[in-house]
Amino acid sequence: MSTNNSAWVYTDTVKEHFMHPKNIWDDDTYQPEGEGLVGSMACGDQMKVGITVKDDKIETLKWQTYGCASAIASTSMMSEIAIGMTLEEAYNLTPAMITEKLGGLPQHKFHCSVLGDKALRAAIDDYLEKNNRENPFRKNVAKIICECKGITDQRIEDLVKNKEATTLDELRDITQFGTVCGKCRFKVQQLFDEYKHIYNV
Ligand code: FES
Repeated sequence: MSTNNSAWVYTDTVKEHFMHPKNIWDDDTYQPEGEGLVGSMACGDQMKVGITVKDDKIETLKWQTYGCASAIASTSMMSEIAIGMTLEEAYNLTPAMITEKLGGLPQHKFHCSVLGDKALRAAIDDYLEKNNRENPFRKNVAKIICECKGITDQRIEDLVKNKEATTLDELRDITQFGTVCGKCRFKVQQLFDEYKHIYNV
């Protein structure tokens, strides 16, 4: 579903999840075993996800967001999809899968659905770290962004998240992205801006 119209153009499924969001973290006694926080309050779209795990499957998932209707509906849907999934399946959830289950989102709202899966991955990372376990899923979701230098989106994400690259110039110095054919430059810049936003750096 795609439109330039900013009117009420959401599917019934989106409306249902917005009006009656599922698995909201509204209980102070909830004690997650893994927790992920992404986004920025300053931009009004912070997302927090907590999980408990049983037999390597997501047993409970609760979330809080200060995002818009699309972010609320996407995260509500994501929570329903993810509960019962193995950690690996949950780690591989993408915004496109969530959006499809919602019956689509207006094109200009698609970006609102990306924080939920990031926060879920962060919660799984946190869970594995707290349990002193290797993360076997991370490398499988990495995508090559600069083919000439073999730089993945995950490498860029890590450098931004750990504040090792705070400017695009620093990122270029470290990774040498864009220094051969140059066709990756725009994509890298977009990702760099997106990760800065997500990790609030
Ligand atoms: S793809 Fe990045 S320099 Fe060629």
